[in-house]
Amino acid sequence: MKPPLLLLLSISILLEALLFSVTGNNVGAYSPIDDIAVNCGSPCNSSESNWTWIGDAEDGSTYSPADEIHSSINANASRSSPSFHNLIPYHIARLSRSEFIYTFRDTAGPRFVRLHFFPSDYLDFRRANSFFSVKAPGNTLIRNFSASLFSDHTSFTSFHKEFCLTVGADQILNVTFAPTPGNPEAYAFVNGIEVVSMPKHLNYNTVVDSTEGIKLAGYKTLHNFSTADAFEVVKHLNVRGQFVGLADDAGMCRTWEVDESYVTSSNIGLLPVSTTVPLNYGEQVPNYTAPDSVYRTART
Ligand SMILES: *[C@@H]1O[C@H](CO)[C@@H](O)[C@H](O)[C@H]1NC(C)=O
Ligand SMILES: *[C@@H]1O[C@H](CO)[C@@H](O)[C@H](O)[C@H]1NC(C)=O
Ligand SMILES: *[C@@H]1O[C@H](CO)[C@@H](O)[C@H](O)[C@H]1NC(C)=O
Ligand SMILES: *[C@@H]1O[C@H](CO)[C@@H](O)[C@H](O)[C@H]1NC(C)=O
Ligand SMILES: *[C@@H]1O[C@H](CO)[C@@H](O)[C@H](O)[C@H]1NC(C)=O
Ligand SMILES: *[C@@H]1O[C@H](CO)[C@@H](O)[C@H](O)[C@H]1NC(C)=O
Ligand SMILES: *[C@@H]1O[C@H](CO)[C@@H](O)[C@H](O)[C@H]1NC(C)=O
Repeated sequence: MKPPLLLLLSISILLEALLFSVTGNNVGAYSPIDDIAVNCGSPCNSSESNWTWIGDAEDGSTYSPADEIHSSINANASRSSPSFHNLIPYHIARLSRSEFIYTFRDTAGPRFVRLHFFPSDYLDFRRANSFFSVKAPGNTLIRNFSASLFSDHTSFTSFHKEFCLTVGADQILNVTFAPTPGNPEAYAFVNGIEVVSMPKHLNYNTVVDSTEGIKLAGYKTLHNFSTADAFEVVKHLNVRGQFVGLADDAGMCRTWEVDESYVTSSNIGLLPVSTTVPLNYGEQVPNYTAPDSVYRTART
């Protein structure tokens, strides 16, 4: 079987190509060690589709954020917002015009961090005024971000941004929301945060470690990725295949998009499909790396 090519595209000028060779025996399905979902601003826990979102606004909640001057508030999204929808975690948010910090303890190792946003008016926080940065230890994940501009540009009324990062054994995962300085109306907000452990070799890959380094767009020098780097996940594409929804992912709630609209060359390649060839996974590339259906289609 030809080694498939997985693409992880990142806004941080990253186009990482992981070339996997798939051999050996199956190992077990991936099940995350921790799988934390915080419904920011919510005074209670809520469940949806077998999934518990933990409220952060209850007294003594493990995930109540720290803020120096106790200025962060929780508020419901304005119901008069044209795109209001009553879905967890989007209808309620935590907001502040000064910095607030969520702390996730005992999360050493590689993690997905998903930040959920529903840009809307919240009390006197106007939709257009969110401008903020989000920081994790050693990395700024987003800088001077405007959720409303992002939403208007992409037409997603609510959305999440997903990052991969590695929390060191001696680190605590503090996620800091900081309004952009210099603008008195600027505020930071978030509707939901998920912290999910991920397999060690998925993005921080030790299989492909013999390169001279990777050329990043806009940089002259080559770069080797290390666990000190954070990635933003922008797309998962199922090359030449069908859309794969999160319920059909290999345990990590990713969605895999159809790649057609991204193929811009007139030569679209040969399109092999094999629904019958056995897929043999190995210890370095376990079967949860991607769903089987992703490996069964390709462009060559
Ligand atoms: C919410 O869920 C968390 C984690 O499962 C639990 O510790 C807490 O007691 C729950 N709170 C309520 C009010 O049920
Ligand atoms: C909840 O879990 C049960 C048992 O695992 C499953 O049968 C059911 O389909 C799940 N419901 C949803 C909405 O995912
Ligand atoms: C949000 O709305 C619910 C009713 O939908 C209400 O019970 C709750 O108090 C509101 N929360 C805030 C912070 O205004
Ligand atoms: C933040 O972004 C806005 C909109 O693009 C821009 O006007 C502003 O100058 C930026 N602020 C900083 C500190 O970069
Ligand atoms: C952030 O993490 C450090 C340890 O890495 C800890 O000492 C500090 O108290 C944390 N900050 C907050 C606000 O929790
Ligand atoms: C990247 O790592 C390889 C293998 O360890 C090494 O030969 C190369 O010099 C490194 N490149 C850079 C830019 O650090
Ligand atoms: C991976 O293989 C194990 C063991 O054969 C199986 O239980 C699991 O469902 C498989 N996972 C995926 C995502 O195919």
